[in-house]
Amino acid sequence: MTDDVLTPDQIQAIRDRVAALMPQVRADLEALVRIPSVSAASFDQSHVARSAEAVAELLRGEGLEVEVVVEGGRPAVIGHIDGPEGAPTVTLYAHHDVQPPGDDADWDSTPFEPTERGGRLYGRGAADDKAGVLAHIAALRAHRGRLPVGVTVFVEGEEESGSPSLPAILAKHGDRLAADAIVIADSGNWAIGTPALTTTLRGGVRAVVRVQTLDHSVHSGMFGGAAPDAVTALVRLLATLHDDDGNVAVQGLDEGVAAELDYDEARFRAESGLLDGVDLIGSGSILSRLWTKPSLTTIGIDATSMAKASNTLSARAAAKVSMRIAPSQDPQKAFELLRAHLEQHAPWGAQVSVELTELGAGFAAQADGPIYDQARASFRDAWDVDPVDMGVGGSIPFISDFAARFPEAAILVTGVEDPDTRAHGANESLHLGEFARVCEAEAILLARLGAMDS
Ligand code: BES
Ligand code: MN
Repeated sequence: MTDDVLTPDQIQAIRDRVAALMPQVRADLEALVRIPSVSAASFDQSHVARSAEAVAELLRGEGLEVEVVVEGGRPAVIGHIDGPEGAPTVTLYAHHDVQPPGDDADWDSTPFEPTERGGRLYGRGAADDKAGVLAHIAALRAHRGRLPVGVTVFVEGEEESGSPSLPAILAKHGDRLAADAIVIADSGNWAIGTPALTTTLRGGVRAVVRVQTLDHSVHSGMFGGAAPDAVTALVRLLATLHDDDGNVAVQGLDEGVAAELDYDEARFRAESGLLDGVDLIGSGSILSRLWTKPSLTTIGIDATSMAKASNTLSARAAAKVSMRIAPSQDPQKAFELLRAHLEQHAPWGAQVSVELTELGAGFAAQADGPIYDQARASFRDAWDVDPVDMGVGGSIPFISDFAARFPEAAILVTGVEDPDTRAHGANESLHLGEFARVCEAEAILLARLGAMDS
């Protein structure tokens, strides 16, 4: 391309600088992973404070003016450094909190001790999303002392807990996050060797459904056969949430059509670990089932444990359900539809109550324009392969708040994850080769945006 904003030599020079920086970037990533910054309320929040401080130190090291802000929730880190006069500004987002590690026994190495095996770095947060934090640091380091754009870094501490204090943070500090482009490094790429921009995300609704059938628990020999127990009633109620094909049976929810990408059942089976003989559920293309149609999962049940079981009819039982909703779906309306469904399908007249616990909107990007062009070019530079537009089935609820607040900004959803990352699961890991590409692409993106004709 003769009219490209960077020459091939300039691009290669950035790639070389990033390659030289990767050992230190990796060491800094490992130090962050060693901090067990689980934002879930039942975990020690002092570690979240420590990880915020560690991120703040990394940013100060790159010459940013940094503040750790707390607005009633967990600490977020905001850093800023001016660019050349008249250059565009870019806000870089990631989160420093992580999901709970789950059972240590399910991991092949200790969750908070980063360990390399087979070109991947294992550890909770090694990908989601501490590598996102380090991708931003790497991009800053690649341009140390001659940053081509103004940069604001925003690293949140409670994304994995639904960003409860984000509205307060935006209300108080939002003006500092305004930018021409916002890079949200919390998603991933299409496959090893194929970069992607994430252009749609689903929203989510979480709710607790409680079922009560009896005033108190009673002997199952004396009353069983004529009185329903709450656990069985709950299970029957949950069973109404899908039709026989496994589609969500709640009526009235939005559905969209996913981008056309090659994705067959064999790949889905391999990536999801679906057992031989177990059917896929739902209908329509697999990608629309994952990205643009609703899904419903029972994520927890409170009922008498087997260890405490006796011959008793339970009076009460409850379940937490997580519903993913189409990018376009209004989440409050989705919750109302879910509640109505559960109330209307109460088996045997059981008392059913439904409580909303969390709700977040999906997102569909306006994925064109000059900034998107430069982002796609940066990916091509780093991978030597054209990027694809993809959706993801997961959620980053605050993106819609950002988009509403900064309607002119181009929102670029990038990230380090790949199909085998196992974010949130045991043996979460980062593909180190792809991580280097992500860092290169982001460093090149800053240079491209700085060199753009405004
Ligand atoms: N990084 C994920 C979002 C994501 C998921 C991106 C799948 C790409 C693929 C993010 O950290 C996350 O897990 N979000 C939560 C949000 C929830 C806690 C409100 C999610 O999707 O469950
Ligand atoms: Mn994440």
